Amino acid sequence: MKPKISFVAALATIAALAGCTSNNSIPPYLDDNQPIEVRVEDALQRMTLEEKVAMCHAQSKFSSPGVPRLGIPEVWCTDGPHGIREEVFWDEWSGAGWTNDACTAFPALTCLAATWDPEMSALYGKSIGEEARYRNKNVLLGPGVNIYRTPLNGRNFEYMGEDPYLASVMVVPYIQEVQKNGVATCVKHFALNNQENARLRINVTVSDRALREIYLPAFEAAVKQGGTWSIMGAYNQYNNEHCCHNSILLNDILKKEWGFDGTVISDWGGTHDTKQAAENGLDLEFGTWSNGLTWSASNAYDNYFLATPYLEGLKAGTYSEEQLDDKVRRILRMIFRTTMDRTRPFGEFVSPAHFDAARTIAQNGIVLLQNEGNLLPLSPDKVQNILVVGENANKRMTIGGGSSSLKVVYENLPLEGLQSRYGKDKITYMKGYTSGKDTVEELSELSAAAEKADAVIFIGGLNKHGHQDAEGGDRLSYGLPYGQDTVIETLVQANPRTVVVIISGNAVAMPWKERVPAIVEGWYCGTEAGNALASILAGDVNPSGKLPFTYYASLDQCGAHALGEYPGANNQVNYKDDIWVGYRFTEREKSAPLFPFGHGLSYTSFEYSDVKANKKSMSQEGKLNISVTVKNNGDREGSEIVQLYIGDKESSVPRPLKELKGFDKVKLAPGESRTVTFTIDSQALRFWDETTNDWKVEPGTFTAYVGASSADIRGTVDFLVK
Ligand code: BGC
Repeated sequence: MKPKISFVAALATIAALAGCTSNNSIPPYLDDNQPIEVRVEDALQRMTLEEKVAMCHAQSKFSSPGVPRLGIPEVWCTDGPHGIREEVFWDEWSGAGWTNDACTAFPALTCLAATWDPEMSALYGKSIGEEARYRNKNVLLGPGVNIYRTPLNGRNFEYMGEDPYLASVMVVPYIQEVQKNGVATCVKHFALNNQENARLRINVTVSDRALREIYLPAFEAAVKQGGTWSIMGAYNQYNNEHCCHNSILLNDILKKEWGFDGTVISDWGGTHDTKQAAENGLDLEFGTWSNGLTWSASNAYDNYFLATPYLEGLKAGTYSEEQLDDKVRRILRMIFRTTMDRTRPFGEFVSPAHFDAARTIAQNGIVLLQNEGNLLPLSPDKVQNILVVGENANKRMTIGGGSSSLKVVYENLPLEGLQSRYGKDKITYMKGYTSGKDTVEELSELSAAAEKADAVIFIGGLNKHGHQDAEGGDRLSYGLPYGQDTVIETLVQANPRTVVVIISGNAVAMPWKERVPAIVEGWYCGTEAGNALASILAGDVNPSGKLPFTYYASLDQCGAHALGEYPGANNQVNYKDDIWVGYRFTEREKSAPLFPFGHGLSYTSFEYSDVKANKKSMSQEGKLNISVTVKNNGDREGSEIVQLYIGDKESSVPRPLKELKGFDKVKLAPGESRTVTFTIDSQALRFWDETTNDWKVEPGTFTAYVGASSADIRGTVDFLVK
């Protein structure tokens, strides 16, 4: 009992100091037994105008003030989304040199999306949420759910792929599990931040239909199903207003239509105007004048758009205090849900459980793209001498890429993972190419070494340098950089038993695809990258990831490049590709990508049978079940991601042939079979009707397609919507 009494006494003291209690009772805002809304209102009415305004802007690179007089804590943000960023100096981006802040790096979000497994997403959220909590952060700047519109986008690795349904399903458990730690997720970047090129200025023109069907659903799921406590405005403009203070996106859609009650946080330096920031839905301004203290009276933060200029405008009656109160309520609510929740757990940091989680997620997300003649797995008992080639085998990928760059407690590299799995004596390593000097090694030496090996594993791809999967700039071309194509061609010519592993967050051109028997998409896998990759290549783990985006053969297969504008001109980009993103476009054009959306192989094989609907028709408000039986036909356990797509046969507007509306990852023992059932409702049938500005389901015949990828449909069934 003793600690409890002193705790209550401490609270009473704080309250008394704040001058707001009588008879030593706890003021409502500090009283855990009061509903949050009561506490928020109570805190709000105790605050001065100056205290309220202070809460609406940063006080340092990653923190904003609380109310010291009332004992209301500060907000401390951290990047996000793959690990907890190192501590930085108060006003700088650079590391502060702490020795206790090296984190666990989890796989990049493309890899998480490639697991197609909400349980992996939950494990991810739980683990990273615990790390954030341990480090005393109450806002995690992530996850990111911007749609993969073009493979050139430098930040695709931080997002969850091209499909709004997949991203929507995957984002929800991440959020829920992070927030169980009393840490708010800050889902980013809302919205239409689909390229890095000119990101701070570019104005996106997009149809309402594409906005609703493609670009907003994952954010909507994050708000309505995930219940995220904060969201980050994007750098770019939409409808000629910056997204950090965009009346349509923030006021009309996010807050009014979706009922979001959390905090809108600006991207760092994404705020441009006091009036718009005051009125168009921004709550908390961060990162303005990110160069630090170069523009200020006493402190750069005083000159933020939502600082002194806002305060003066409020005093002059230019801005309404009601709007200010709305911002402060939202920030207080976030604080009450996080730092002021006395029941929140304490978290944990760089624990074995987190390393296991990072490895498990990676093992579930790595995608076996091609495996001619079952070259993989390369069983360690059957190979004596493996030649490993490629800079990415031995390069740290947690560093670089921009704000998601991490200081990690360790990063197990692919070469290390292979050495420990196969034995050091069995592995010979050659770099093959060098990114810094952009040179290729002597090809005859590579060729000679490859000829002598039992098998060759090339590990290359992109690398998070500028324009190679990095924030602030897009890729400059679709092909592999640094002469890697030549190296791959040389190796496979010398030794047909060549495996190519691409480390990237984006698709790349593969002019050598027909000659290379085995290809793996290895992603950026973080702390346990090497062990995870080795376990897949050696066959300890049966691969089960599938692509969360289309692997185009060339850029003209991508709607953004073929129909739309990219990267735009004069700070303007027109999404003429509309809803024709990813497989929606390749299917319309009947073009065959290198690997389709949803594709991924296993070391076993799965047979699909008996695709059926539980009835022939459904009403627009009703539900219908589609089921399929899936059998593991091989001789080892494996997991299959069963996918359901729905297509509308005749419609008043052009619609994609089919769209993903369900998936289930099922683990099956050899010979085992299971019936998977999907329940669909109007959400699986609807489109955004621009004439009524609402969702619409048209009656008629629909087709359900069930398969192993968007292009590998194993059964269909028609049903009628009345
Ligand atoms: C990025 C955000 C990030 C922020 C803080 C910005 O440049 O766009 O994603 O959270 O910096 O580091």
